[in-house]
Amino acid sequence: MTNTNIIAIDGPAGAGKGTLTKKLCEHYGFAGLDTGSLYRAITLCLIEKKHDMEHLDINFAIQTTKELSDSHEILKYAKNPAIRSQLTNKYVASVAKIPEIREIMRHYQTEFAQNPPALPDGRPAKGAVIEGRDIGTVICPNAPVKFFITASPETRASRRLKEYLDQGESASYQEVLASIIARDEADRNRPTSPLKQADDAFLIDTSVNNKEQTFDVARKYIDSHLEMKLV
Ligand code: CDP
Repeated sequence: MTNTNIIAIDGPAGAGKGTLTKKLCEHYGFAGLDTGSLYRAITLCLIEKKHDMEHLDINFAIQTTKELSDSHEILKYAKNPAIRSQLTNKYVASVAKIPEIREIMRHYQTEFAQNPPALPDGRPAKGAVIEGRDIGTVICPNAPVKFFITASPETRASRRLKEYLDQGESASYQEVLASIIARDEADRNRPTSPLKQADDAFLIDTSVNNKEQTFDVARKYIDSHLEMKLV
């Protein structure tokens, strides 16, 4: 039977989508998909092929995406920590704006939403949490629960800086802030599937809510909107 327990989470870089997704998956026994990791995986593969990322060859990028997707190699790349490097951050939005690449990724994401894979411990998933930029608007427009997670650029840059420093990467606050603002602009202003709050999405600002408060607000909203008794 096709899964209809779908939670769509969208928002800009570093807003806390990943943290919320993880907590919701654990709480409800849902499978989670970080769709950003797919676009990052394609970007990393192109970088590894020594492709000139400043002058992206769109046909080559599309062909690489097809190969990665057909061979399921994309999942291997998506697990590589290098997808979160500053170099990948720099180029991922220019890869993600290519409509043909988004179309290939749409099939993968729709399939995950409708037939979520078993949980790591082997239990069947009771639903799916999908996070990205266009999940509530384009990928799962009929999701019964949609969140738009945001925070000020300064808060998001401070969090990202801490992640880099924790991983041993050097970075300055000003560089990280500039890179976050540039990526937000690229994501919001692209013609295909821009970052946008769906009309029926519930907004949570994580500059004013900490991780636990964000989870509590989301849980209450889900419990009053998903018809199935989940827990
Ligand atoms: O982790 P962070 O919030 O920085 O971003 P991400 O979710 O890993 O996404 C990385 C990039 O992939 C975004 O800046 C977008 O350019 C692109 N992306 C997208 O276009 N559509 C999605 N559904 C998810 C990510």
